[in-house]
Amino acid sequence: MNFENVLVSTEGHICYITVNRPHKLNALNRLTIRELSQAMKDASSSPEVRVIILTGAGEKSFVAGADISEFADFSDQEGQNLSETGHQILFNLIAEMQTPVIAAINGFALGGGLELALSCHIRVASDNAKLGLPEVSLGLIPGYGGTQRLTLLVGSGNAMELITTAGMIDAHEAHRIGLVNHVCTQTELKSKCAEIAMRIVRNSPTAVSAAMRAVSSVYTVDVDGFQVEIEAFGSCFGTDDFKEGTTSFLQKRKPRFTGE
Ligand code: COA
Repeated sequence: MNFENVLVSTEGHICYITVNRPHKLNALNRLTIRELSQAMKDASSSPEVRVIILTGAGEKSFVAGADISEFADFSDQEGQNLSETGHQILFNLIAEMQTPVIAAINGFALGGGLELALSCHIRVASDNAKLGLPEVSLGLIPGYGGTQRLTLLVGSGNAMELITTAGMIDAHEAHRIGLVNHVCTQTELKSKCAEIAMRIVRNSPTAVSAAMRAVSSVYTVDVDGFQVEIEAFGSCFGTDDFKEGTTSFLQKRKPRFTGE
């Protein structure tokens, strides 16, 4: 499908999704959020795609936040609707996907941009990246999951400081506090993410999805994550991938997983 503000290409089993509004530092307007949502749904339902890499167009910005010009005159009810819709159609959608999404943070990841990266399952930043949740400097708070996902990832002390100061941190500080998994140069960013993706692609897609379901259950209140793990573990035994994984090990050959 062709989009106005989102580029999609697939190489091997890796789908690259790029937010493409560089003149606005890839800020998320409503159209971009809808298009990203559709691109994510398309990729996660394609049997070809086993990993998604999400990045921003240009060398300056991953995503510089929600598009401020679209909500500057909103009422409180409109603000709540904006947040709720965003949660549903994009941020929760990504977080709950069972195809891993790697955020390749190639520059500014601010506000909704950092929240987008936080919805992803793995984050890699280039060394020019600047990350932050500056919403309180606009009289707002993070509204796309940032208060929750940042806190779970880096602890409440780090999250409180980042959110209440509205400060930006660089990629190395983000790495130090556990906000990103790796830092590399901008020229290495695509290959670093592709290398991680290829290591995932070698494994059983059904097991990767089951593992993600169990890990992600830690975010769900009122769900016993240990029980999710027990059931997800059990479900693996009914898959062709499990038979192939164990048989190939015993036969001392590389597995050929089908994702069935
Ligand atoms: N919403 C809407 N437009 C945005 C935007 C956002 N979140 N972030 C950047 N842009 C636009 C700018 O308005 C500008 O558009 P223009 O050329 O039509 O005036 C263009 O992107 C380039 O940004 P500019 O501010 O000129 O670049 P800069 O290098 O001077 O500053 C930033 C970069 C990221 C520091 C600055 O753009 C910024 O503070 N953006 C807002 C970040 C933010 O608060 N995000 C959270 C929103 S809830």
